[in-house]
Amino acid sequence: MPKLKKEEKRQFSNYISDVVDNDLVKSLDNYTQHRSTTTYKHSLNVAYYSFWIAKRLGLNVEEKSLIRGALLHDFNLYDWRKTNMTSSEHLRTHPKIARYNAKKYFNINPLEEEIILKHMWPVTISKIPTKKEAIIVCAMDSVCAISDFIKSFFPKYKKVKEV
Ligand SMILES: [Fe+2]
Ligand SMILES: [Fe+2]
Repeated sequence: MPKLKKEEKRQFSNYISDVVDNDLVKSLDNYTQHRSTTTYKHSLNVAYYSFWIAKRLGLNVEEKSLIRGALLHDFNLYDWRKTNMTSSEHLRTHPKIARYNAKKYFNINPLEEEIILKHMWPVTISKIPTKKEAIIVCAMDSVCAISDFIKSFFPKYKKVKEV
């Protein structure tokens, strides 16, 4: 995992604090994500990588919103495999559901809303991320998802068999 500097680590911990300790957010640890991890750990990773890349590239971003949006981007409080949804329905609809939950349980701002709603582009073809923060989270989500899937081929990481 890429390293944050000491001061950046302190900032990161500060930004995640009100979201990461929430019981509903913690419950995301009950849902397997990308075969090798949980939605909670995946979301934390996406937040960490998004913050790290923004710092390393010296991008002028709304850091707190970048991190909160990343943490809540998959805030789906169910296991889609136990619903009637197909995989492709889940892929297309879960950003809207995550946004609904994030609005309901957290006081998210319009930028955080955009980050969540547009993180699945180009699957959600009309939801093109235009804000820097949304583009970063969309890209880091893909990086983390690919890494999660690759890890699942190694028995020590594999969590469950998914459909
Ligand atoms: Fe997602
Ligand atoms: Fe994700």
